[in-house]
Amino acid sequence: MTPKDLIAQALEAREMAYAPYSSFKVGAALLTRDEKVYRGCNIENAAFSPTNCAERTAIFKAISEGERAFAALAVVADTTDVCRPCGVCRQVMAEFFSSDVLIIMANQAGKWETATVEELLPGAFGPAELDGDRIQHA
Ligand code: THU
Repeated sequence: MTPKDLIAQALEAREMAYAPYSSFKVGAALLTRDEKVYRGCNIENAAFSPTNCAERTAIFKAISEGERAFAALAVVADTTDVCRPCGVCRQVMAEFFSSDVLIIMANQAGKWETATVEELLPGAFGPAELDGDRIQHA
C-alpha cells in the first residue's frame, strides 16, 4: 500500500470525526505489517479532557484486536501545512512503534511528509525506564 492509499483511508476515517466543540476533524489510518488497516477519528467530549485523537483511536483499536506489528500510520486534517500528531499521541506511538514505522503526516490539499517516532519524540520515556527493581510484581 502506498502512502497516498493510506492517506485516502485516513481521509475516509476523518468523515467519522465527532468534533462538535473544535470542528477540527482528524482522520488516521494504521497499517499493520500484514496489510490490515485500522482507521480512527477524533472523538471529543463535553468535558474536553476525555477527547481522544484520531491517531490514538486507530492505535487502540488495533492493539485491542491483538495487533502488535505495524508498518505505517497516516494522519490527515484540513490544515494549511501537514497535520502533526500531539504530544500524547507521540508518547503512545513510542510505546508501540519500532523505528521503521513510517508516520505519514498529511493535509487535505494533498501535501504530506514522513517521520519516524524517534524523530517526533526523541529520548521518549519507554518500557526501558521501568525495568529492574522499579517493577512492582504483585
Ligand atoms: N487532534 C487529533 O485528533 N489529532 C492530532 O494530531 C491533533 C489534534 C484532535 C483533538 C481534538 O478533537 C481536535 O483535534 C482539536 O485539537
